[in-house]
Amino acid sequence: MSDSAFLGTALPLIQAPMAGAQDAQLAIAVGEAGALGSLPAAMLDAATLERELRRLHASGRPYNVNFFVHTPPATDDTREARWRSALAPYYAELGLDMPPTGGGASRQPFSHEAADVLEVFRPAFVSFHFGLPAPELLARVKRMGSRVLSSATTVREALWLQANGADAVIAQGLEAGGHRGHFLDKDPAMQAETSALLPQVVAALKILVIAAGGIADADGVRAAMARGASAVQVGTAFLLCDEARTSAVHRAALADPQTPTALTNLFTGGLARGIINRVMREQGPVSAAAPPFPLATAGIGPLRAKAEATGSGDFTPLWSGTNRSGCRAAPAAEVVHALARGFASG
Ligand SMILES: Cc1cc2nc3c(=O)[nH]c(=O)nc-3n(C[C@H](O)[C@H](O)[C@H](O)COP(=O)(O)O)c2cc1C
Repeated sequence: MSDSAFLGTALPLIQAPMAGAQDAQLAIAVGEAGALGSLPAAMLDAATLERELRRLHASGRPYNVNFFVHTPPATDDTREARWRSALAPYYAELGLDMPPTGGGASRQPFSHEAADVLEVFRPAFVSFHFGLPAPELLARVKRMGSRVLSSATTVREALWLQANGADAVIAQGLEAGGHRGHFLDKDPAMQAETSALLPQVVAALKILVIAAGGIADADGVRAAMARGASAVQVGTAFLLCDEARTSAVHRAALADPQTPTALTNLFTGGLARGIINRVMREQGPVSAAAPPFPLATAGIGPLRAKAEATGSGDFTPLWSGTNRSGCRAAPAAEVVHALARGFASG
């Protein structure tokens, strides 16, 4: 099967799902430009998921819907107290009261309730981050006729995904923005950049491999395809697009090329790559006090909201890959067309 035939699109290009930075609008624009648009569903309740899927479905193009499949952790009072005391000076500085403990988790794992909504629309693709859902939930997705994708950060994770029902694997190199999709090899010291991870995953797997992480232009696309990718998944390069919902502070940080990115656990408890800001400089970027994913969000959320209201990104997760040279404040079709040149032969 040719690689574009697998995606059902003109281009073997997937716009990465980016929770918090986009809704169906970006995915629809990408679909109209000939690539596969993705809807991130990790932070959507069932009613919002249904509304967004209705919009995507009406576009008449294939699309991907993305979920997280983490196991919600038990709360740890000692760690929660340490996290709160680390954040207390910021609460005092911004004149805020500390919220009560046990704030609602901002990110929910894939569930039967979400599958009920998906069944109405039967998306062409469903992708997962942090592994795969439990077998009976995965079987429900497969019965809908959706192809299943998931991210791997090591060869071992890629083999596990292949053995447990993925139809294709996204090899997520260390350059990638947002959360690491790791679920077996959670130490980033074990993980490689896209150029090293991709050919090893391609060599190890029988199923198709999609490259992700640091791909921002036609040269990056060409390099990934030359290393055996069947398609590429690009996130960061779409963040400044007109159709994205990227916040003003996030856009400003992305447009300034000077500040590097780092992996941090301060915003959710899970390791994710973002542009370094004040709280990352002062508390980490990795802190042993931060509660496990996704519980850290509750402590930092009020600081983020208050700071953003004054135009400050000091407490905002400024998710970005290491390579933001492909970001364009332009319609998404322009980013798709720039990347598409990397697929042209000759
Ligand atoms: C702002 C942002 C949010 C992201 N959110 C998600 C998400 O909700 N689900 C997911 O599977 N991956 C998410 N990712 C990771 C992407 O799937 C992908 O691995 C990454 O964007 C590829 O690297 P690049 O950003 O260098 O293109 C996110 C990435 C970014 C930049």
